[in-house]
Amino acid sequence: MCGIAAYIGQKEAAPIILDFIKKLEYRGYDSCGIATLNGSLTYKKGTGKIDDVDQKINFLNLKGNIGIGHTRWATHGEPSDKNAHPHFSCEGNIAIVHNGIIENSEELKKILIKGGHEFRSETDTEVVVHLIEDLINEGNTMEEAFAKTLKLIQGAFAIVAMNKNEPNRLYVVKQSSPLVLGVGDNEIFVASDVLPIQLHTNKVVYLQDGDFAVVTNNDYKIKNLSEIKVNREITILSENLEEISKGDFEHFMLKEIYEQPESIKRAFKGRIDKDNAKFGGLNLNIDDIKKIKRVVLTGCGTSWHACLIGGYYIEEISKIAAQVEYASEFRYKNPVLGKDDLLIVLSQSGETADSIAAIQEAKEKGVKTIGLVNVVGSPIARMVDGGIYLHAGHEIGVASTKTFTSHLTALYLLSIYLGRINGNLSKEKAKEMLNDLENLPDKIKETFNSVEEIKKIANKYFKSKNALYLGRHYNFPVALEGALKLKEISYIHAEGYPAAEMKHGPIALIDENMPVIVIAPEDRLYSKVMSNIQEVKSRKGKVIVVTTDESKNGFDEIIKIPKVSEFLMPIISVVPVQLLAYYIAKERNCDIDKPRNLAKSVTVE
Ligand code: AGP
Ligand code: GLU
Repeated sequence: MCGIAAYIGQKEAAPIILDFIKKLEYRGYDSCGIATLNGSLTYKKGTGKIDDVDQKINFLNLKGNIGIGHTRWATHGEPSDKNAHPHFSCEGNIAIVHNGIIENSEELKKILIKGGHEFRSETDTEVVVHLIEDLINEGNTMEEAFAKTLKLIQGAFAIVAMNKNEPNRLYVVKQSSPLVLGVGDNEIFVASDVLPIQLHTNKVVYLQDGDFAVVTNNDYKIKNLSEIKVNREITILSENLEEISKGDFEHFMLKEIYEQPESIKRAFKGRIDKDNAKFGGLNLNIDDIKKIKRVVLTGCGTSWHACLIGGYYIEEISKIAAQVEYASEFRYKNPVLGKDDLLIVLSQSGETADSIAAIQEAKEKGVKTIGLVNVVGSPIARMVDGGIYLHAGHEIGVASTKTFTSHLTALYLLSIYLGRINGNLSKEKAKEMLNDLENLPDKIKETFNSVEEIKKIANKYFKSKNALYLGRHYNFPVALEGALKLKEISYIHAEGYPAAEMKHGPIALIDENMPVIVIAPEDRLYSKVMSNIQEVKSRKGKVIVVTTDESKNGFDEIIKIPKVSEFLMPIISVVPVQLLAYYIAKERNCDIDKPRNLAKSVTVE
């Protein structure tokens, strides 16, 4: 999380950096700051969202054509003016911004304080700038001091540093946290991801772990931490993505919910081939696939919910044993893995630290790894053996919506592909399933017909203190996802449960103040779910049912959805719970695109 940005070139740095950190704000937004160099190092920083801070301190007063900026998601030290980045050396000649965690900051801080350094913040980051200063005072050049500092710190760090005495250089390093260079004409941009860069240049350099670069306005020299020169190719960004804007929507999240018919089309475009699916970069040969005895799916948050549905797909469509793991748990459990296993990791950002660690765990055990990722060129996309890009487009809302349904689309196609290759899925069944998928975007559009009903329900229940979401089989992960959406953006406590589990405890929570949202399409378990609904009703619970059933079976509220195959039902039934969370959060005047305490990508453990 957090976004860092820097510029060196012919133009004023502050306007460019301000625009960059605004476009990176979805990565973290509790405080922000910019420093520029124009003979002297000047800076402004503050607590809160960028627009609010800018209103107060006017970043554009900063002058100079070299600068660094940061929008923070705090890990060490609360959000405050003093903890906001950039951070400075004692003499004020060196400034840095940092994304990540310096894991040995406490011990380094003690040594530096003993050496006479005065700290102005509670952050882990600040040790870095004092180490550089110390090494310069011992006679090292800035480049030597920077390189030596990188050997002293441990953890995850993307850092940009500048030195008042070197007005035409930026010092950059990438270790676990992402960092990209944008190569313009006599100007170079640095950012945590390509989003802000692409509006200035389509030539980018994705820095790799251990890369440390000295950047001037028309050159960059990259070395690794052993100070050996490294060549990184320039990538030409394929999409000239339009300016990321909300269009006619009030929030990015609502725009991305309504984008799902299109984003799902992009997820299956070019991947349907008569009676099978096809992929460009899966990098799995026929023999590999036939040997797979177990698929392990892993991810975090919403991506983990998608993994749960993927697990059902892999078992029911491909007829391969499937296991689903939280990436944050998987990486520490010393899992038993073998050469007949396949690890599939799901990640929208491709940066999630726990998911990266899960891949490393699998690779160390000789397991093939596949990534289903949205952000092209992201760390996960670059470390797996093969993968499927979601092509959902940038997802700016912190709460994932379109990338969840794109993940399910990719998993559905992958399950068909594996099933056709290992012979467990017939040509006829595959054709039928692929046809269902091609009809799906229009079915999703039909779910939007319930939006007025959803708004009324939101208006009725937005003051609730708790909520329970229930579903069975494919709809249990949808219940989890609906609960997460509500928690994330409205701050109402919500839990998702298998509907059958409710009677084993949670039913004690049911009373007239507990809204219970039940995902209940007419499938083979519908009658069982109806019994669960009656259990709730008989304890005065308020029942909101998302269902394909035209008749109103004594529900307090009904949200009608179109009927599709059982496999594709989760992609339909999740849309109403996304919208319900959105409109409840709206009633509560929450900051829907940038909910408190959250960040779009969690690049720390
Ligand atoms: C979902 O709405 C949240 N933004 C969060 O749970 C997210 O799914 C999780 O952090 C994983 O992110 P990733 O998909 O980018 O790896
Ligand atoms: N660990 C640093 C801090 O707490 C950086 C956090 C971030 O990546 O925003 O300030």
